[in-house]
Amino acid sequence: MARPEQIEAGQAAYSPIVLGIYDWYVHGLSNHLLWHCPTSALRQLYDRNVSARHIDIGVGTGYFLDKAKWPVAKPSITLVDLNANSLDAASRRIARYAPETVVANAMESLPLSGSFGSAALCYLLHCMPGAIPDKAVAFDHLRPLLKPGARVFGATILQGSLPRSRAAQALMNIYNRKGIFSNAADTVEDLDSALRARFTNVKVEVLGVVALFEAAAF
Ligand SMILES: C[S@@+](CC[C@H](N)C(=O)[O-])C[C@H]1O[C@@H](n2cnc3c(N)ncnc32)[C@H](O)[C@@H]1O
Repeated sequence: MARPEQIEAGQAAYSPIVLGIYDWYVHGLSNHLLWHCPTSALRQLYDRNVSARHIDIGVGTGYFLDKAKWPVAKPSITLVDLNANSLDAASRRIARYAPETVVANAMESLPLSGSFGSAALCYLLHCMPGAIPDKAVAFDHLRPLLKPGARVFGATILQGSLPRSRAAQALMNIYNRKGIFSNAADTVEDLDSALRARFTNVKVEVLGVVALFEAAAF
């Protein structure tokens, strides 16, 4: 079971200064040079899955929420994060949609009700402690909040047997030591099984060391 300090470490890095360079560092550089997953693929993932009533868990700067092609002019968006800096940055970024913000740990039951049409967990799972079967508790807490047919999607950086450059492995090792990442035991097989046990129409695509996943609630 995850210890409180491990959960804390997975979100502690997101200070206002880090969030100030996050988009440039992660979506500008790392995705391309280290993780070999184009940021455009993640944007397309959002574009084809977001709905008029969306919940986003692990929001960072709100980059994808800002760029997404929403199906309505004024989507209802709920932002969930354990870190108040992330909630602040993302909610200011998409203030035009007047999002609701909720401070919560994705590994515990969420203090929310409702029937969302889409839910995103983008680059969240690799920040959470444990292996994929432990992290999948986040899907369990999400399920009661989804309406039938709701889209569940996201992306996570994996290890397992995926080939990666020395630079990518070295950086992952550092992040894992610091607790910023906890993905040492994360495999695409476990991710696929966790999704199939809870959702339908599961699709998992691996680009570089990133798994992009999409599924539907029933
Ligand atoms: C790597 S950032 C991803 C941001 C954004 N989704 C993106 O793809 O650019 C991870 C975010 O998840 C949040 N986070 C980490 N662990 C969490 C947890 N256990 N519960 C809720 N949020 C968490 C962090 O505070 C941070 O905002």
